[in-house]
Amino acid sequence: MQATAIAHSNIALAKYWGKRDVPGNVPATPSVSVTLSHLHTRTHVMFDPSLNEDSFRLNNSISTGEPLLRVTKLLNEVRQRANLQLCAQVTSENNFPTASGLASSASGFAALAMAACKASRLTLTTQELSRIARRASASAARSLFEGFVSLDTYDNPAAEMLAPASHWPSLSLVVAAVTLAPKVETSTHAMVHTRETSPYYSSWKDDAVSVAQDVRTAILNRDIQQLGEAAECSALRMHACAMSAAPGILYWSAKTLELIHCVYSLRRAGIGAWFTMDAGPHVKIICEQKDTHTIAELVRVHCAYVQIANPGPAAYIT
Ligand code: PMV
Repeated sequence: MQATAIAHSNIALAKYWGKRDVPGNVPATPSVSVTLSHLHTRTHVMFDPSLNEDSFRLNNSISTGEPLLRVTKLLNEVRQRANLQLCAQVTSENNFPTASGLASSASGFAALAMAACKASRLTLTTQELSRIARRASASAARSLFEGFVSLDTYDNPAAEMLAPASHWPSLSLVVAAVTLAPKVETSTHAMVHTRETSPYYSSWKDDAVSVAQDVRTAILNRDIQQLGEAAECSALRMHACAMSAAPGILYWSAKTLELIHCVYSLRRAGIGAWFTMDAGPHVKIICEQKDTHTIAELVRVHCAYVQIANPGPAAYIT
């Protein structure tokens, strides 16, 4: 009873921030992401009668506390569906920096949901796997699918593929990580705090619907300028809302601002480049494939890690 799955990370071009239903982990705003080639998590799950408790090893170190609890919670849902009583050994590796705001929880929980279901011999649709992953981390719901992916806000949503990776293979993301340190504030806590204390939260929530629609239209038309402008707008509004909580949540560092200004200078020089940031200080630059090397070379001096990615594949069993 064992299986290994690989899931790729994803970046939201239209962000979700806030939960409509906290226990069910249902987002308050729709989101649209691109699954990333090159950045993935590989997870092995083995249900074993000789184990007395679940164990979780991440990047070769034993994980306990909150990370293990989140793994066990997802395994409990799988055990319940499969009518299984066995504990599991979970081993996971990311091929990119972990827990620093580069969406390792998205690829991590997507790979875990897929490997755990396969190991327990459950046959579920990708939509059902997406729901299981979503309850652990909403962005993980999107990492089950390839290419361009939407996640809505209705009851118990699953993510859906908007367009396959082959729809726009020349779209690129330059992932520019400014530090390898863990992020300061988890997104789950920060979202709840924003909803409870920001006077701008309801405006953010209402406005996010039309920004997500702009992002979807831009993707379907392969219009990089419309996509870049809408993605920047979504990121700035999400961060503005988090900053307006009391006390404010500020994920950016001085290097984040330096990178934003690099993107502005690229645009002034006639290169199509737009930025987006998630719950961390890193900047992801949206551009065309032909400009990736120029951009990567320019930002490298500010960064601890740079990776170029394109629309990537769906999660799969190895
Ligand atoms: O999926 P979570 O709970 O880790 O939160 C993800 C939040 C953002 O990355 C900021 C936005 C998004 O839609 O991915």
